[in-house]
Amino acid sequence: MKNEIVRCVCTDMSVDGHGIARSKDLVVFVKEMIPGETADVKITAEKKNYAYGIIDTLIEASPYRTKSLCPVAYKCGGCDFRHISYEGQLAIKKKLLENTFRGLNVRIEDVVPSPKTDHYRNKVQIPVKDGKAGFYRKYSHDIVEQEHCLLQFEGADEILKDALEIFRERNILDSVRHIFLRKGEGSDEVMLGIIVRKKEIPVWRKTAQEIVRRRPEITTVVLNINTRDDNVILGEEETVLYGPGIIRDIYDGISVEISLKSFYQVNHDQMVQLYAKACSTLNEGESVLDLYSGIGTISLFAARRAREVTGVEIVEDAVRNAKRNAALNHMENVAFFLDDARGDMRKYMQGKDAVILDPPRKGISKELADDLIASGIPKIIYISCNPATLARDLGLLKEFYDFDTVTPFDMFPHTVHVESVVKLTRKGR
Ligand SMILES: C[S@@+](CC[C@H](N)C(=O)[O-])C[C@H]1O[C@@H](n2cnc3c(N)ncnc32)[C@H](O)[C@@H]1O
Repeated sequence: MKNEIVRCVCTDMSVDGHGIARSKDLVVFVKEMIPGETADVKITAEKKNYAYGIIDTLIEASPYRTKSLCPVAYKCGGCDFRHISYEGQLAIKKKLLENTFRGLNVRIEDVVPSPKTDHYRNKVQIPVKDGKAGFYRKYSHDIVEQEHCLLQFEGADEILKDALEIFRERNILDSVRHIFLRKGEGSDEVMLGIIVRKKEIPVWRKTAQEIVRRRPEITTVVLNINTRDDNVILGEEETVLYGPGIIRDIYDGISVEISLKSFYQVNHDQMVQLYAKACSTLNEGESVLDLYSGIGTISLFAARRAREVTGVEIVEDAVRNAKRNAALNHMENVAFFLDDARGDMRKYMQGKDAVILDPPRKGISKELADDLIASGIPKIIYISCNPATLARDLGLLKEFYDFDTVTPFDMFPHTVHVESVVKLTRKGR
C-alpha cells in the first residue's frame, strides 16, 4: 500500500489541518488537501483503519486554493493554511467548529476576521539547536531555518538576523536555547529575551549592549536561565541585561506593562475585538471574577463597564504586571490575586454576578466546573483557544447553564487555530 497512488475525494478537514479524503473504503489524511478537492494521492504511511498521504496530482482544485507566498511554508510548522485563501480559511474554521460542537445544539457564527492577516504576531519564539535557529518542522524538533517570516511582526526578521550574527561572531550560540521577541504594537517597544542553558552574566551583558547598539528599536533585554532537560521554554531565574525588563503596550486606550514570563495575546488588534465581544454582556453595577487573568488585560477592559473586577492568575510576574497595570490606568475597582485555578475558587466567587474564564489550551478542571455550579454564578463568559476542550467543558456545565451561540475570532490567520467566545446563563434565571 505504501507509495501506491489512489484517487481520493476530500470531504472534510482534521483538527490538525489535514484534508480527510476517501478512496472507496479507505480514509486518507492528506497533507495540504482542501475539502471539495479530488486528487491522486500517494500513500506515505498505512495504519490499521486509515492512511496518510500527499497529493501526487491535483485533479480538481478547490476555489479556495491559492499560491503560498512563503518559501518555507509546510517545511516549518508555523503555518497550516498558506495554500488556502483567507476567505477559505474562515469558512474552514467555521466548519471545524461545527464538527466539534455537533451534539451541543449551538449555532456557530461566522468567524470574525483578523484585522491583519500577515505580520500579526507580536511574539516570536525561536528555538536554537546545533548552530541552527528557526521554527520546528511540524511534528518534530528538527529546525527549519528561515530568513523571512510572514507571521511575525515587521522588523522581527532583521532583529533575529543581527542577534544570530552577533551570537555566532562571539561563539556563544551553543549556549542559547531560545530567542524570544515581543513587540508592543501600540508603543513600538521591543523586548529581546535570550533563554540560555547556564548562567554567564558578564558575557551576555556585553552581548546585549552590542545588539542594542545595532538594533536601537530593542528597548529591553532579559536573560532567562533554563537548566531543565524538558520542553518547557522559560526557566525561573532571570536577569535584566538592558532597559526596564518590561515592555509597554497600549490597547483600546489602556496602557499595560508586560514581563517576559507573562502571557499576552499575540494578535493585538484582534485581541481588542475579542475583549469587546466578551465584555459586551457585562452591565454597570456587576461584580466580575476574571479567572486566568494574565497581566489583567480583560479585567481592565471589563472594569470600565463593571462595578468591580477580581483577577486570579498563577504566574507571579503576570500578577505583578496586573497590579501595576491597574495603577497605571488609575483603576481602583480591580484587584488581582496570585492563585491556582485548580484549587478551591469558591472564595472568589462569592457575590459575583459574572465569571470570565480564559484558560490555557487544556481548558478548566472538573473541580472548577463544580465550583461554578455550586456557587450559582449567574453568568459565565468563556473565552477559549481550543474548541475541543471548550466543547468538553460546556458539556460539564450544560445541565445548569444555557448557551446557544459560539462566536469565533480568527486570532491566528494561516494556522488551523481559532479562538471562541461563549456566553452561558444560569438556568431558571
Ligand atoms: C490564555 S491565557 C489568558 C490570559 C488573559 N486572560 C489574556 O487575555 O491575556 C491563560 C492564562 O492562564 C494562566 N494560568 C494557567 N494555568 C493557570 C492556573 N492553574 N491557575 C491560574 N492561572 C493559570 C496563564 O499563566 C495565562 O496567563
